[in-house]
Amino acid sequence: MSDPKSQQTPVEVSVEDLFKSFGDHSVLAGVRLRICRGETIAIVGPSGCGKTVLLKHIMGTLAPDRGVVRVADHERPGSPLLNLADLSEDEMDEIRIHWAVVFQRNALFGGTVFENLALWPREVKRLSDDQIKPLAMKALADVGLDPDQLLAVKREALSGGMAKRVAIARALVMSPLLILYDEPTSGLDPVTGAQIHDLIARTHASPTDQGIARTTIIVTHDTELLRRLRPRVVMMSEGRIYFDGTFEQFIQSDLSLIRPYVQQMPLLHGRRHE
Ligand SMILES: Nc1ncnc2c1ncn2[C@@H]1O[C@H](COP(=O)(O)OP(=O)(O)OP(=O)(O)O)[C@@H](O)[C@H]1O
Ligand SMILES: [Mg+2]
Repeated sequence: MSDPKSQQTPVEVSVEDLFKSFGDHSVLAGVRLRICRGETIAIVGPSGCGKTVLLKHIMGTLAPDRGVVRVADHERPGSPLLNLADLSEDEMDEIRIHWAVVFQRNALFGGTVFENLALWPREVKRLSDDQIKPLAMKALADVGLDPDQLLAVKREALSGGMAKRVAIARALVMSPLLILYDEPTSGLDPVTGAQIHDLIARTHASPTDQGIARTTIIVTHDTELLRRLRPRVVMMSEGRIYFDGTFEQFIQSDLSLIRPYVQQMPLLHGRRHE
């Protein structure tokens, strides 16, 4: 039986029977995933299982061998989902106006913090630097950084934690309806990691220009992030979705690949009433 909630909530991304190989190395082997507007969804699974490859298909930067990715058309609310494979570059740009991604590696480009924050609004939204500056200042303040001090700072001068914050600020400048994070807390100390968790949660909950809910997709290995954000959890294994359920279902699951994850969450039971 289908979930009545998913019938009411518009679908943001629909991944249908996705297959992808590199040479004879099969990475995605029939992935099906439906993500509804307003969800926070975490994609987990062992290193190399295809999480980043799946994210790149959702973003349209990799094309599937077989299968389809459909996405919401926020330029024409209420219209049917769009098959990414059918879109021209211009049509793809229209879709990307509403998206932002915080990358796994090389989170920032070379240049100053302002250059980083300005790049997408310039290219995707065709805004001038004068229009971008107040947006950049606000986004930096939103991630807890001092805009006056940071705008002219070069990427090389930022710590790892600051760089992640700037990467999130760069996403916020776009005021996205769909925000994708690939390992947003990797390489951070636990305190900075916790600040990023809060930032992701606050960003998810903050109002969008369109007044509709934001959708957040997070690829992560960070069990503390799961514990604190309690997202819908999707686990990938061997090119497919191995588990898809609520955080509560995830931690109660007896599945053999999930138990080691849950055992890494020693504080979970002690903090049940948090
Ligand atoms: N462009 C590419 N060409 C060839 N192989 C690729 C390419 N991109 C990814 N792969 C391979 O696909 C597999 C899945 O890679 P992916 O980056 O999606 O893993 P992941 O689940 O994100 O891992 P991690 O948790 O370490 O980030 C890996 O074996 C990787 O080497
Ligand atoms: Mg990855």
